[in-house]
This record gives sequence, C-alpha cells and structure tokens, in this order.
Amino acid sequence: MRTQVGIIGAGPAGLLLAQLLAVRGIDSVVLENRSRDYVQARIRAGILEQGTVDLLTEAGVGERLHREGLRHDGIYLQRPGHREHLDFPGLCGRSVWAYGQTQVVKDLIDARLAAGQRIEFEISDTTLHDLDTDRPRVTYTDRAGFPQVLECDVVAGCDGYHGPSRRMLPPDLQQTWARDYPFAWLGILADVAPSTDELIYAWHPDGFALHSMRSPSVSRLYLQVDPHESLESWSDDRIWSELSHRLAFEDWQLQTGPITERSITPMRSFVSAPMRHGRLFLAGDAAHIVPPTGAKGLNLAVADVALLCEALAALLLHRRSELADAYSDAALRRVWRATHFSWWMTSMLHSTGDPFESQLQLSQLRYVTSSPAAAQSLAENYTGMPLH
Ligand code: FAD
Ligand code: DHB
Repeated sequence: MRTQVGIIGAGPAGLLLAQLLAVRGIDSVVLENRSRDYVQARIRAGILEQGTVDLLTEAGVGERLHREGLRHDGIYLQRPGHREHLDFPGLCGRSVWAYGQTQVVKDLIDARLAAGQRIEFEISDTTLHDLDTDRPRVTYTDRAGFPQVLECDVVAGCDGYHGPSRRMLPPDLQQTWARDYPFAWLGILADVAPSTDELIYAWHPDGFALHSMRSPSVSRLYLQVDPHESLESWSDDRIWSELSHRLAFEDWQLQTGPITERSITPMRSFVSAPMRHGRLFLAGDAAHIVPPTGAKGLNLAVADVALLCEALAALLLHRRSELADAYSDAALRRVWRATHFSWWMTSMLHSTGDPFESQLQLSQLRYVTSSPAAAQSLAENYTGMPLH
C-alpha cells in the first residue's frame, strides 16, 4: 500500500492532521493500535482554545462543536474565603470552549470515514523504517493478522507518549527534559448539572480541586491526590465529600450525582527535541507532555499539527522544504511557553505541605486576581498564544 503521509496514531493530533491534509488534497493513511470504540470512549481533556476551535472549524469538523460546545469567558480562581473571576475577553480579547476531547475525536473519525478515507484500527507490531530516505515505510500487522507495508513520502508520529515514533530518533541527536510532580489528579465524570457557570480552580491546604464540565448535564471534577493512591480507596461518598470540602465557598453548594467514570492520572512535564528526524515528524504527546493544570495538552497537539500541515503541504505539493526544516524549532517555541505555563499553574495551585510554599502560592493568587498585568498574563496563556 502507498500513501503520501503515513500517520501513526488516531488521537487528536493524527486525526486532525489527516483531516487538514485531506482538505489540501494530500492523501494519508492513519494507523491505530486500539479499536474505534476504545479511542472514542477515552475520557481526557475538555478545554479548547479559540485557535483550536478555529482550526477545527476550518477543517470542516466544527458543526457539532458550535452547536454543543460551551463558550467560557473566564475562570474562577479560589482560595479559602475568596472566589475571584478572571474575565478573559476583557483581559485579552479571547475565550475558551468546553467540549470534550472524546467529542473532538468522534467528530474527526466520523468525518474521515464518511469521506471514504482510511483509518486502520486494531493494528499491531507498528515499526518504522528508512526514515532517512525519501521513501520511508511503516510495517504492521492488520486486525485480521496479516503483515502489511505502508510506503510513504513522510511519516507523522502522532502516537502519544508511549508510541514507537519518538524512539526512532538516534540517541545522540535527541535531547529530553522531564519533571515528575509529587501528586496526581483523581478525575470523575458525573451525571449532574455543573454547580458553576465557569470552571473553578481551587487552592486548598488539603489539596487542589477543579470543577469543570462537559455539557449542561455532565460535570467533570478533579482532586489532587497522592500519585500512589489507589482508586479503590476512594468511594463515591469520599470523592464528593472531599470535593465539597475543597471547593467550599459561602452560600454555594456542590451538587452531586452518579459517577460514570473515574481515573487517576500522574502529572509530568516532558519535552523531547528535535521534533523531526529525516522524513519523520513528531506531533503532540509523542514529543511532549504537560501536567493538565493549564488545560494545554490537547491544544498543544493541535498547534503542532497546524504547523506540520503547512510544512507538509509545502514539501509535498511544491517541493519546498523551508517550513519542514523550520517545523521543529517553531513548534518547540510554543511547546516551551505552554510547558512553562502548565508548570506555573501547577506550582501555584497544588499543596505540597510546605508552609513557606503555601504562603508564596497564596501571595501569587492574590496577585493574579488583583493586578491587571498579572491577570492578563494568565489570560493570554490560558486562552492560547497566537500560532506564529
Ligand atoms: P494521544 O491522544 O495519546 O493519541 C495517540 C494515539 O496513538 C492513541 O490513539 C494511541 O492508541 C495510538 N498509538 C500508540 N501507540 C501506537 C502504535 N504502536 N501504533 C499505532 N498507534 C499507536 N490534557 C488536558 O489538557 N486536560 C486533561 O484533563 C487531560 N487529561 C488527560 C488524561 C489522561 C489519562 C491522559 C493520558 C492525557 C490527558 N491530557 C489532558 C492530555 C491530552 O489528552 C493529550 O495531550 C492529547 O490526547 C494529545 O493528543 P495526541 O493525539 O498527541 O496523543
Ligand atoms: C479540564 C481539564 C483540565 O486539565 C483543565 O485545566 C480544565 C478542564 C477538563 O477535563 O474539563
């Protein structure tokens, strides 16, 4: 089998790249080792930057997003006794949207399959070859158990943190940076109307809590927990009671409901450079991970793909390699901005048990909610810096 771009991974990065390439008339095949049902059910991020919404719209997959997505014009930052609102349009002229990553993935898969374009689900043994030639190949075993070869002009490694693409970089050319945080997030999805109009990020001496949402009838909430915590030790009652305790505010009540999904996610910062080697280009979690506090992981994957699509179009349609050569540096500039912002939000909001650090965090929270300059800095990073 032959295609122009072999895309490994049907997460947001791989699927959106395939869609943007198709709009430009560039052929691709998406290879995914999980099933369609699994990929569409994986509960992850939920906040889209304006630039992400614009790109999905431009790619022709924004119809349901505009119908069902919830525009958010700010967030609440909370510390005991104080719940303060940051008004994003007033601070930086942009907003964000609550729309689940699962919905984005579903919209992209539906669009691709409806247009008769290929996604191979449930493949195994994904292996990349000849990346330093202009005829790279991907070999794999298809869902029926038959060995297959995909010949390409370019391979896009969009296979997430655990995928094989990043490991193809020669160790002497690769640099990595990592930070593991001493906490994790216990996340739940619940069938209950959100108790707030906009997200609440709450600092609390017993640990951070976040109230987010997916729709007018589905809430998404998170608790800071120990990374070694087991889900079994968190009954529904314990989860709701801890959320009510950490999110507590005068005359405000957290509404509870049936929990439909729960998981614990460790928190890590990780960057790998360069994001290109020969005819292999990396995008999204394959090249970098951020802790979720700044809501940046999905948006960064989308920003990578926006740059990568332009670079591949120039390379494959016009035989011009300038953008392909510039891709890694351009993407990494944005990656490091988001890495800093995510680290900063994480450091400001999570309890470490160190009393000195708590006072610094409370001072920083008072500052970002009282200084227009500090609030503006948070707002422009949270809503997403311009692509270029
Ligand atoms: P992925 O979504 O990881 O997609 C990669 C795809 O590649 C997957 O479908 C995978 O199955 C496939 N793949 C892997 N190996 C192979 C192989 N060998 N062959 C073929 N295919 C392969 N971000 C936030 O902003 N907020 C959040 O609340 C949040 N929560 C998260 C919770 C979890 C549990 C995780 C893991 C991430 C979370 N993130 C969150 C991060 C965000 O979801 C990611 O940044 C985003 O999914 C990145 O998209 P991606 O397409 O680069 O990678
Ligand atoms: C959600 C996740 C985040 O990491 C965040 O900062 C805000 C919202 C969410 O899943 O809704």
